[in-house]
Amino acid sequence: MTTGLFITLEGPDGSGKTTQARLLAEWLTAQGYPLVTTREPGGTRIGEAIRAVVHDCAHTEMAPQAEILLYSAARAQHVAEVIRPALAAGKLVLCDRYFDSTYAYQGYGRGLPLDSLRMITHFAVQGLIPDLTLYLDISPEVGLQRRARSGGELNRLDREALAFHERVRAGYLALAAAEPARWRIIDADRPPEDVQQALRAALTTNLHEFTRI
Ligand code: TYD
Repeated sequence: MTTGLFITLEGPDGSGKTTQARLLAEWLTAQGYPLVTTREPGGTRIGEAIRAVVHDCAHTEMAPQAEILLYSAARAQHVAEVIRPALAAGKLVLCDRYFDSTYAYQGYGRGLPLDSLRMITHFAVQGLIPDLTLYLDISPEVGLQRRARSGGELNRLDREALAFHERVRAGYLALAAAEPARWRIIDADRPPEDVQQALRAALTTNLHEFTRI
């Protein structure tokens, strides 16, 4: 039984997710919410070690099945060590990427069977589903250009072809359409201040309910 509020942020590469997550966290903290921010893959000592392996551009030989199990192993540790305890303590958990990234990237992007991914995920997270998923939507062309301009390091997934990123985006939109009550789609192709305003507005109902508990 959880008493906290579990919010995830999703989006293709270059959607500005990391900056928006930071701004959102500052806003929530300023309002006094008991906030825990975290990210995937990572969020724990074991998870960060897995992140280094899974994102290493030298690991060109990585089998898609190994990739899924590595992301899922990091997630299992993250849920057990960080997310569940925080929710049980009544915290608001803001997580940058969660299992929807696996469905979008490994499922739709790589074309791996969603049924298997759902089984693996269910085992890894033991049924822990976000209360709300905020999705920053942007076309891959714009997203990848932004990513290149920001000069940040490219990981193994960033280096995939444009068609891969197009499948990822289509996957996100399909996931959102299948579960409209959990998802909010935010247009990320506009000034960062506007995106931030939209994110805050999308949170309102959940924050009210959270405060009332
Ligand atoms: P990261 O450097 O954290 O970038 P971003 O700012 O885009 O979140 O890289 C995360 C990368 O890992 C991103 O390319 C998506 C990928 N990923 C998956 O493919 N499957 C997953 O389950 C997760 C959590 C991430």
